[in-house]
Parts: sequence; structure tokens; C-alpha cells
Amino acid sequence: MSREPVRAAARLGLDDNIVTAMLFQNLRDEIDATLARDPAARSRLEVVLCYPGFQALLYFRAAHWLWERRFYLLGRFVSHVGRVLTGIEIHPGARIGRRLFIDHGMGVVIGETAEIGDDCTLYHGVTLGGTRPSREQGGQKRHPTIGNDVIVGSGAQVLGPFRVGDGARIGAASVVLKEVPDGATMVGNPAHQVGRRAASEAMPPVFEPYGISGEIPDPIARPLAALLDEVAALRARVAEVERESDAPKTAEPTVEPLRSRVARANP
Ligand SMILES: CC(C)(COP(=O)(O)OP(=O)(O)OC[C@H]1O[C@@H](n2cnc3c(N)ncnc32)[C@H](O)[C@@H]1OP(=O)(O)O)[C@@H](O)C(=O)NCCC(=O)NCCS
Repeated sequence: MSREPVRAAARLGLDDNIVTAMLFQNLRDEIDATLARDPAARSRLEVVLCYPGFQALLYFRAAHWLWERRFYLLGRFVSHVGRVLTGIEIHPGARIGRRLFIDHGMGVVIGETAEIGDDCTLYHGVTLGGTRPSREQGGQKRHPTIGNDVIVGSGAQVLGPFRVGDGARIGAASVVLKEVPDGATMVGNPAHQVGRRAASEAMPPVFEPYGISGEIPDPIARPLAALLDEVAALRARVAEVERESDAPKTAEPTVEPLRSRVARANP
């Protein structure tokens, strides 16, 4: 990771304020996370000006700072302004790791006791919420804990105080109501597991847009590849059957040995 922003902050006379330098660094990391994961993003300036996910995180960081210092009303107000301007509602009490990417963003809701690890991606319409929030549950954990490198598809609802494991993929429009293992792919309502990547694959070095592995790139190639496999298997079987039916013919001599034919011709 480049330390250039830290050095830039130092050049600006901020070297006595390491917090400011780290803030610059974190902001740049977050902008770069958007650039790395959205093929449509062209420049850092575009991310700053046009990406509500990035802007919502700025409001969240300020609101969370206030919340931690017990300026609860002010924290809620800053969070509310962020919601009005970006369409993304993040409670100031939530805990969010580094390089979160909220794509499109509109309609995302992140509850008070939700926690999100590093390098996660949320698409629009995602809720990290509680199942039956009520006043009695105040101060209790009601929202999910999302691990590192998790992708939550658009419109997915993750409801309850359970953990979503590292590297998990949550399908668009899924409703997840219970713990998700590391590397699992969950789809449906209620969500069920349709796949699980090995621990070594759980954190791919390259981001997979929309949570889809790039190994087989399109939906036409996938059935075609399956058909070709099937044809190859059938060919192998036909060859095997042909060999089996040929085998007895070659084993039994069908042609009369030459010596006995000569003997018959010259008695
Ligand atoms: C969940 C997801 C990551 C799975 O991708 P994948 O690993 O390539 O999995 P596949 O496409 O092979 O699907 C596996 C199975 O789950 C089903 N499935 C996939 N996504 C689903 C979804 N969102 N809801 C219901 N079923 C789904 C498939 O039909 C398939 O079922 P089958 O085996 O019976 O045919 C992906 O489908 C997804 O939803 N990504 C989020 C995309 C998104 O939010 N985009 C917003 C862009 S703006």
C-alpha cells in the first residue's frame, strides 16, 4: 500500500498530526477500493464527486466519531443528512472496517449493532438489520456481523445477530436468517447454501464483480462446457463398448489355419 498520502500530509505541515495523515491514507484507500471494484469508475475525482457509497462513508465516519464521543443526537443528525443526500442509511453506532465498497447504494440500511469487516462489497437495497427490533432490545446486539471480503448482492436482507463468514457471497434478493460459513454462497428466501469455496479460495486476490467467479465467464459457455464434457464421456463409452464386442472375434480364429487347408487340398 502506498504511503504517498502520509508523505503528502507531512509536506503540508501536518506531520505533527499523525491522525490527519492516517485519515488521508484511509480516504485514498477507500477511493482506490471503488476504482478497483467498479469497472465503470474512471478517476479518483469521479469517485469523490459521483459515488454515493464513498460519500456515505464520509458522513458515517464523521457521525461515528461523534457517536463514540457521546454526541448521540449530533451523530444521528449527520447520519440523517448523509442518508438524505446519498440514499444510504448507516447508523452512527455501526462498526465498519476498511475499504467497504457500496455500489449504487440507494436503499442500503446498516443497523446500529451491525459490524462489517475489511474489503466488503454491498450492492443497492441491502439491509443489515434485526429480525424483530423492539425497545427492550436496546443496547443488545440485534444486527449481523459481516466478515472480511464478503459480497452481498442487491436487495439481499441479512437479518439477525449472527455472523457471515469471511469470503461469503450472498445472492441478490436473498433473505439470510442464520449463520453463514466462511466462503459459502447463499441464495433464496430463506437463503440456503449452494456452494462453498475452499479456505484457500475464500479470499481471492482479485475482486470478482457481482460475486461471480471469472473461471466460466458467461451463462452460454457454462451449459456448452457441460455438453462437451458429456460428449467426451459418451465417446469414451462407445469406444469401450466397441472394444468389448470386437474382443471375442479376434480371440477366436475365424480363418482356417493354412496347414489344414493345404492338407485338405492334397489328401
Ligand atoms: C449468488 C451469486 C454470487 C452466485 O454466483 P455463482 O457462484 O456464479 O453461482 P451460480 O450462478 O452458478 O448459481 C448457483 C445456483 O444458485 C442459483 N442462484 C444464483 N443466484 C441466485 C439468486 N440471487 N437467487 C436465487 N438463486 C440464485 C442459480 O440459479 C444456481 O442454481 P442451480 O444450481 O439450481 O442452477 C450471484 O448469482 C449473485 O447473486 N451475485 C450478486 C449480483 C448482484 O447483486 N448484482 C447487482 C449488480 S448492480
